[in-house]
Amino acid sequence: MKTKILMVCLGNICRSPLAEGILASKLDPTKYFVDSAGTAGYHTGELPDRRSIAIARQYGLDISHQRSRKFVRNDFQTFDYIFAMDQSNYTNILRLAETQEDRDKVQMILNQISPNSNAEVPDPYYGGDQGFENVYQMLDEACSVFAKKIP
Ligand code: 4NP
Repeated sequence: MKTKILMVCLGNICRSPLAEGILASKLDPTKYFVDSAGTAGYHTGELPDRRSIAIARQYGLDISHQRSRKFVRNDFQTFDYIFAMDQSNYTNILRLAETQEDRDKVQMILNQISPNSNAEVPDPYYGGDQGFENVYQMLDEACSVFAKKIP
């Protein structure tokens, strides 16, 4: 059985598609499955934001096959690790948790870099291209730390 990791943001078009692509590139696909979702369904079925596709491509990753979907309660059954990009994502994910086991699966992604800091990956949607570069660098660092220690 593969270990399954889910990246979650609000719209599943900017941050979590990048997190999915970056982490997947660092793990053996025969052993791990990486997916992403959004706590809101506004963009269901859409491709990642063109700026996320562009920054990923700049670093050699193709995320254009991804399609946005909403986070659902059943994701607690499917996934072993669930990473939130910000506090609001974290709260919205936990709202759907039913057991302590569910709650224990959820972590803030940047706690990989700074444990217990609860630092947030800023939402780049309304900003410029620099925001996407910044998000990419944060996620690349966090995913490297996680990929090195995941069993
Ligand atoms: P994401 O960014 O949560 O990183 O995918 C957003 C994308 C869309 C919206 C908000 C954030 N929106 O309000 O449509």
